[in-house]
Order: sequence, then structure tokens, then C-alpha cells
Amino acid sequence: MPTVKIVEVGPRDGLQNEKQQVDTASKLELIRRLAASGLTTIEAGAFVSPKWVPQMADSLHILQALELSGSVNYPVLVPNDKGMEQALAAGVREIAVFGAASEGFSQKNINASIAESLARFDSVMATARREGIRVRGYVSCVVDCPYEGPIAPAKVAEVAARLLDMGCYEISLGDTIGTATPNRALDMLEAVSKLVPIAQLAGHFHDTYGMAISNIHACFQAGIRTFDSSIAGLGGCPYARGASGNVATEDVVYLMHGLGVDCGIDLPSLVQTAWFAAGLLGRAPTSKVAQAMATV
Ligand code: HMG
Ligand code: MG
Repeated sequence: MPTVKIVEVGPRDGLQNEKQQVDTASKLELIRRLAASGLTTIEAGAFVSPKWVPQMADSLHILQALELSGSVNYPVLVPNDKGMEQALAAGVREIAVFGAASEGFSQKNINASIAESLARFDSVMATARREGIRVRGYVSCVVDCPYEGPIAPAKVAEVAARLLDMGCYEISLGDTIGTATPNRALDMLEAVSKLVPIAQLAGHFHDTYGMAISNIHACFQAGIRTFDSSIAGLGGCPYARGASGNVATEDVVYLMHGLGVDCGIDLPSLVQTAWFAAGLLGRAPTSKVAQAMATV
């Protein structure tokens, strides 16, 4: 049976864009339930400026409360050396640096040009190498940018290749504002996979236009075997106006089960976790699968 790895980003990408602050204990309970449903990689926070993203201000407390040497991997976002200091203080085993294929988004998101951001990551990577910390790389705006419009696939490939050359073990390709359709996602993937082996690429689709599942199916058929998703479809991006949540984890798992693919996740338990996650924000999950399986 083929397998797919799911990277759960709800506690980070999901909660970072919610207006309502979720308390630390509730975040920890959400993470516990996600792990109990079978997720083995759960992005648990971000060591970014609390002035820029207040929802992630308790990331140090979250990471300190988690069992970091167990079987579940808890990566965190790190934009610069200051974030890396906190990652080291928390004892994390994996971080993610996050760049963009668009200058406009890079400036708005991390207050740096693409070149400046890569120089910052160089320094972060040097520390990570010394400390034996694994690093994943994100490229945002791989299809469209909220400030610049369509992004050339060659530009995405260039930034992805730089991150790989720096030592990232995997590059996650972010359709940040969820405007991709399968043909555009595949055009982008074709360009990127000329420079980065497909086994080292992941798909990160937001679901603003309801196309994320179609894009994931197309990328799966093209050979991608790692996808990022967010429980109950929580999320968005504070620096990408109009971006809605990530594709819901339960939708991806349902698709994969239909394709005969094992993700190691118990779907009924995951659906209960989706209702718990959405409940923390006082609403029902937006995903069709969570609604359809509500009584499970
Ligand atoms: P800056 O203001 O340019 O930083 O922010 P600075 O170096 O000029 O420092 C200004 C202040 O911030 C100083 O404090 C620093 O100490 C502090 P002050 O002296 O004024 O009191 N500072 C920090 N504090 C905590 N943690 C840090 C840190 N660095 C500096 N790491 C910075 C630059 C990168 C920090 C800022 O722009 C930032 O935090 N941006 C984060 C944006 C973010 O988290 N965006 C969402 C995640 S990306 C995403 O969602 C996309 C993704 O999902 C993929 C996709 O969908 O495409 C990954
Ligand atoms: Mg995202």
C-alpha cells in the first residue's frame, strides 16, 4: 500500500491567523489529540516576533511542555537568529525556515527581501548544523502573490533550490492564498522538480477557492508524497489578505483512503479532533468530511 506523510500545521498555520487567542492549555490539548489520532509531525509553534504574530507568543511554553524526544516530531518556524536562540532554549529537534518566491510577500511577511531572507537563513542553518537540528524550508507564493499577482515557476524553482542547497531536507511549496488550480500547480511543480528531487518536495495548499483537494490529487499523481494540512481547515496567513485556511487534514486523509493510501491516521478520531479544534474557536469545522462524519 502506498504511503503519504501528512504534516499537521493547525497549531501553527491554523491558529496564527485566528483573531481569537487560544490559551496555552487548550493548544496543548489539541496537539495531544492530534498525536493520539496518529499524526507524527505536528508543527507546534513559531519563534517569530509576538508584535507581528501575537497568537504564537506562547510557543516557548508550548514546546517546553511537549515530549520532544518521543515518536512525534514537533517542528517550529524560525525566521532568524533570534528565533533560533528560542528554538535552542526549547530543545527542539526540527525547525522550518520560511521564504517566498515573491519580493512583495517577503517584505510584508518577514520585513526582508528574498536575498536578505536567504542570508538570515544561512546563519540559522549554520547553527542548526552545529546543533544537529533538522531544517525544513518553505517557499510561499508558489503560484500567486497577494501583492504581485502570478509568480513565474522558474522563480519558485530558484528559491526552492537555494533552500535545498543550504541544507533543508525538504521544501514545502506554499500556495499561500489558495488560488492555484491543478494545471498551474503542475506547471510550477514541473519547473521545481527539475532542480529539487520530487521526493524532497511537499505540497502546502490553502483552500481559499476550494481547490486544495484537487491540487493535492494532481500533485499526488505527479509523485508528491508529503502534504501539509490543518485540522478542521483552520488558518490562513496574517500577511496574505483574503487567504483562508489550509486544506483540512480530515479531507486529505479521506482522499488518501479513497486512493488506497495509508497515512497512519485514524479518521474517526481525527474528525472528533476537528470538532474539538473548531470548538476552541466557537464554531463548527468548515470541512465537508468533518461535517459528514459528525456523528461518528
Ligand atoms: P523585524 O521587525 O524586521 O525584526 O521583524 P528586527 O530584527 O528589526 O527586530 C525588531 C524587534 O523584533 C526587536 O525587538 C527584536 O528583538 C524582535 P525590540 O528591540 O523592538 O523589542 N525580534 C524577535 N522577537 C521574537 N522572535 C524573533 C524576533 N526577531 C526579531 N524571531 C521578523 C522580522 C522576521 C522577526 C518579523 O517580520 C516576524 O516575526 N515575522 C513573522 C511573520 C510570520 O510569522 N508570518 C506567518 C508565518 S509564514 C506563513 O504562514 C506561510 C507558510 O504557511 C507557507 C505558505 O502558506 O505559503 C509557512
Ligand atoms: Mg501556510
